[in-house]
Amino acid sequence: MHQFAKHLDAAWQAANAAGDFIRDNWGKPQTIDYKGAIDLVTSVDRESEHRIVEILQRNFSDHSILAEEETDLVGHNNRYRWIIDPLDGTTNFAHNYPHFSVSIALECEGEIVLGLVYDPLRRECFKAVKHQGATLNGDPIKISAVAKLDKSLLATGFPYDFREKADFYLAFLKAFMMGSQGIRRNGSAALDLCYVACGRLDGFWELKLRAWDTAAGALIVEEAGGKVSDFSGNQFSIWGAETLASNGAIHGEMVNVANAVARMDNSLTQK
Ligand code: IPD
Ligand code: CA
Ligand code: CA
Repeated sequence: MHQFAKHLDAAWQAANAAGDFIRDNWGKPQTIDYKGAIDLVTSVDRESEHRIVEILQRNFSDHSILAEEETDLVGHNNRYRWIIDPLDGTTNFAHNYPHFSVSIALECEGEIVLGLVYDPLRRECFKAVKHQGATLNGDPIKISAVAKLDKSLLATGFPYDFREKADFYLAFLKAFMMGSQGIRRNGSAALDLCYVACGRLDGFWELKLRAWDTAAGALIVEEAGGKVSDFSGNQFSIWGAETLASNGAIHGEMVNVANAVARMDNSLTQK
């Protein structure tokens, strides 16, 4: 049995239970609360989180758990911490737009060692374990072979303060639009990262993502042969403000674009 097999099994049980629940509630009227003017949360986000936490606690009663909505538990064995987004793509879910996921990662002594992202509508499950590669529904995946930014398909997303900082975020969009073949804004950062991992996208950038958005997906990109960094090409941190992921081949070009925008000497760059 490979290392973390039982952790991966529990993560799948949890994601599958949450995915069943999300799918059962898909398309029904939702009770929506607002965390900010455009930052929604539904009762499905919260119930999905309860189901995941319950299954992980049943399997690993002493682990720490951090999840987006209401869970921040410190376990007796705080070597291990689960980092969870119970529904990534809530705005899509609430508008009946069929693209969202469940994201579950395991951190061991500060390092992400396991990532699982599940799209319950397409029934696509992306998984990775550190040094063991990445899979989609059990089959190995790898990044695309696109060698130039000019030939790439990219994705991005916009943080929840985009009404206040629209010009700043649009400056990145414009620069990448000029340099690539196309840009998608799909609405689930965890799936955007997995799509880079399996070669459907060649690159992805976003500002101000949170640890639960990226923890699983970033490992899945790396284990599929891709690269994840900040906008300067420095080591990626799930706690940082900048996420830049690619197939590796176009990473340098993407860093050049992101850096050029971030360094622009005018009021747009006031974060
Ligand atoms: C959001 C999604 C979206 C991204 C936002 C995230 P949520 O997560 O990943 O694609 O653009 O920045 O906050 O709120 O739906 O879990
Ligand atoms: Ca999220
Ligand atoms: Ca979420």
